[in-house]
Amino acid sequence: MSEDFEPKIVAFVCNWCTYLAADLAGTNRLEYPPNVRILRLPCTGRVDFNLIIKALEMGADAVVVSGCHPGDCHYTAGNYHARRRWILFRELLETMGIETNRIFFSWISAAESKKWQHMITEITDQIREMGPYTAYHEISEATA
Ligand code: FES
Repeated sequence: MSEDFEPKIVAFVCNWCTYLAADLAGTNRLEYPPNVRILRLPCTGRVDFNLIIKALEMGADAVVVSGCHPGDCHYTAGNYHARRRWILFRELLETMGIETNRIFFSWISAAESKKWQHMITEITDQIREMGPYTAYHEISEATA
């Protein structure tokens, strides 16, 4: 793996919790790797899993989905729907040969800026070790 490799991480985050945690991390000047690109959604229940595939297709080395803790979703059960969808979707991705250990799912509340900081730091380190994600295009060409 190249010493110069810097992972590209796409994070789909809920507007009400994880986005605010990331914002608070910035306000508190908590340092974490600048490898993450945040996409704010109203709720993790709105994460269409085609978005995750699209992120990998467009060159993301890892994808994060993060929202409110169970029981705290502002739309009652969006995060439960997201979790259920993820359980089903994960099996499908594994069947297709996609490395699901590059997709992370977490609950981070608005007050948990340090949790956000630690999670992004750990994921960045982990993906640096794993190297760039190139398998998507190999799978896509093989199934075309
Ligand atoms: S509003 Fe945050 S996960 Fe639903």
